[in-house]
Amino acid sequence: MCAGVNRRTDPRRARVLRKVEGPLPCPLSLGPVTAVTNGAGEWRSWRAAAREALYGPRGFYRRPEGPAGHFRTSVHVSPLFARAVARLLCRVDAELGGPARLDFVDMAAGRGELAAGVLAALPAGVASRTRVYAVEIAGRPEGLDHRIEWLAEPPRPVTGLLFANEWLDNVPVEVAQTDATGVARRVLVRDDGTERLGEPVTGAEAEWLRRWWPLAAGTGRPGEDRRPGEARHRAQEGPGAGEGLRAGEGPRAGEGPRAEEGLRAEIGLDRDAAWASAVATLDRGLAVAVDYAHTRETRPPFGTLTGFRAGRETAPVPDGSCDITAHVALDACAAACPLPGARLLSQREALPLLGVTGARPPLALASSDPAGYVRALASAGEAAELTAPGGLGDFVWLLQPVGIRDVLSP
Ligand SMILES: C[S@@+](CC[C@H](N)C(=O)[O-])C[C@H]1O[C@@H](n2cnc3c(N)ncnc32)[C@H](O)[C@@H]1O
Repeated sequence: MCAGVNRRTDPRRARVLRKVEGPLPCPLSLGPVTAVTNGAGEWRSWRAAAREALYGPRGFYRRPEGPAGHFRTSVHVSPLFARAVARLLCRVDAELGGPARLDFVDMAAGRGELAAGVLAALPAGVASRTRVYAVEIAGRPEGLDHRIEWLAEPPRPVTGLLFANEWLDNVPVEVAQTDATGVARRVLVRDDGTERLGEPVTGAEAEWLRRWWPLAAGTGRPGEDRRPGEARHRAQEGPGAGEGLRAGEGPRAGEGPRAEEGLRAEIGLDRDAAWASAVATLDRGLAVAVDYAHTRETRPPFGTLTGFRAGRETAPVPDGSCDITAHVALDACAAACPLPGARLLSQREALPLLGVTGARPPLALASSDPAGYVRALASAGEAAELTAPGGLGDFVWLLQPVGIRDVLSP
């Protein structure tokens, strides 16, 4: 089933996404996504292009093979992941005092693999009180456990755990790039992936850049971290770029030295709003977002937009043939929720707190219970993959408790 590579083996790599006409009224609700009526020659923002490419009528995530046909997430790597999430749900349940109805929401559920795995791993006494929801844009897969309710939007109110594994990286973003004068401009793209610069970034998007991803000289560490693959994602200046510029226009490094040309950023406004909307569905409980992420101190100077197709990382081309993804500014998402107690920790830190460790079984088990030893060895290998530095272990968990204490604190 798995096509091979994990999407996020190098957390510094860029990924991508895109948009449609006008702002989304609610990022949790896609609303109508236009059909592909433009030719490859039409220039659109990345947000519009990726939105259609991923979720339009012929979008990548509408395909029958589902995400697991193209890349592996932690959910696909091992059942240990779902068991850990089930343990987390049990802790939330205990913290809530064992309510008569406990909710588990698998947000952006793919084909419902995590929902099914959590349901299977719950102790009977908890499972009998638990309502499991899979929230997903794509249709319900055949053969899914009938106890799992398949929804296009999260239920509300939720009392329990909302868990979003690799959702926010697939919420389309605008891409900005600095031009020759240091002004951040919207990157426009055609269906074949060709890019050029558009108008300067202004308003709320410019404000978001200033606060969360400043493109000032010095912050991009010019010359550092640049790799051959990144160069292909740098947009050329096109018609209109550089016209009518005034000092202070756009989020140039106006407060300091001029920004270097070619720095890129992915504007996470829609992700902030999507996360805040998801958290708002909770009455009491815990919301968790897990993704490859960066924080203000570690933003990559040239962005992370990229594509995945059939187990391989590819150039991001918004034609519906590949995933389009970009790392998530999870610190900005956290700040979008006006609730106390949010914190970030790596998957390498989180999973051991839920009983997942890569410790090898004792050698003595090999002679007393050879089959058990082999099983334990395989399990240790899977745990090691889920927590590996430079791989899935570098994923970041955003924990957002709502009306309960931090159930992952020791
Ligand atoms: C990378 S896959 C992750 C699937 C699954 N969570 C996993 O970890 O294997 C991202 C999924 O998010 C879904 N998705 C994106 N935006 C969504 C939204 N607003 N509501 C529901 N599902 C969404 C996509 O359709 C896709 O199946």
